[in-house]
Amino acid sequence: KETRIFRISEENFDAILDEAAAIIRKGGTVAFPTETVYGLGADGLNPDAVLKIFEAKERPPGNPLSLLVHSEEDIRKVAKNIPEKAFRLMDAFWPGPLTIVLEKNDTVPEITSGNLPSIGLRMPDHRIPLDLVKRAGTPLAAPSANLSGKPSPSLAIHVLADLEGKINAVIDGGGTAIGLESTVIDMTAEPPAVLRIGAVGIDDLEKVIGKVRPTFTGAETKAGESMPERQAGQKYSHYTPDTQVVLVEGKEEKISEKLGILLEDYLSKGQKVGLLLSDETADFFAAKELRAHECFLLGSRKEPEEAAKRLFEGLRALDAKGLDVILADGSFSLAGLGAALLNRLREAASVRYVF
Ligand code: TXA
Ligand code: MG
Repeated sequence: KETRIFRISEENFDAILDEAAAIIRKGGTVAFPTETVYGLGADGLNPDAVLKIFEAKERPPGNPLSLLVHSEEDIRKVAKNIPEKAFRLMDAFWPGPLTIVLEKNDTVPEITSGNLPSIGLRMPDHRIPLDLVKRAGTPLAAPSANLSGKPSPSLAIHVLADLEGKINAVIDGGGTAIGLESTVIDMTAEPPAVLRIGAVGIDDLEKVIGKVRPTFTGAETKAGESMPERQAGQKYSHYTPDTQVVLVEGKEEKISEKLGILLEDYLSKGQKVGLLLSDETADFFAAKELRAHECFLLGSRKEPEEAAKRLFEGLRALDAKGLDVILADGSFSLAGLGAALLNRLREAASVRYVF
């Protein structure tokens, strides 16, 4: 099947959104940017349309999709028994990078919710999906627009690399502002469980609704507490590159030096090495005349927002180079998006050193 590519501009916005909405209403699939990552949308209440998402992404059946909504009316159509705290979250963070898991209504087909009694909802902070949901007149099932097992797309070319020929259209609206997927909070659990960390942080959530329980990879567990069990919707492993990723974390000043030692070690064994680095570590390597086969820079370790925006592009680029190992720099500040950035690095890594 041919995948149409819509390059959006001020002039053609209206015409393109009309066409995209028509594809959705006919049960087709359209990829589009959101403020987090590109999503692959279909009519979330039409099981045949939703099946096309699973097929295109090669997503394991049973992995629940979330819905993009545009209005309170949409929310009431698909969710029920909505707790008061959930409304507080909507007021505080919507439109924005927070997916809220609620009890689902019977209007939501089982294929959409992966047979769970709940459904994740998000009102995106982006004109294209908001407008598309409105024009299509239905909540959109919209997982990230990548093949299952690949990093989420932050550019339209990533969507095409994975899904060209398998979806009806992609709207190219440029790079995504955040670059990492939304925070997911399950409001059917008590205390509410944070299933995935994104741009909305634990402190942000707790300011609005009090205690929450982080259950994502690498979530801090206090002494004496056991690691939280994986919840429904978390049982599918995230992105792990084909190339082994070795992550170095710990005290900022030590990380560059340790990465340098690892690099020399791999090179001495004749391995092809790629580097995913902060500018600071790259400067350190330049001063020491340390070189690898490939290098992708994520920006200053003081600016995790910038690094988050580039992370998936960097992982995709390095993973395509046929390297033996990718050495990843975990020296980024944990402020702001830093916690989500480190979480994604940890999920991609098969080996993790902490110095
Ligand atoms: O930022 C985002 O959320 C992007 C953009 C496109 O909106 N979408 C996205 O969708 O990342 P997806 O399907 O790739 O990730 C949604 C996450 C998955 O980890 C899924 O397992 C979880 O939310 N999820 C969805 N519905 C759930 C439910 N009912 N219970 C538990 N987890 C759920
Ligand atoms: Mg995804």
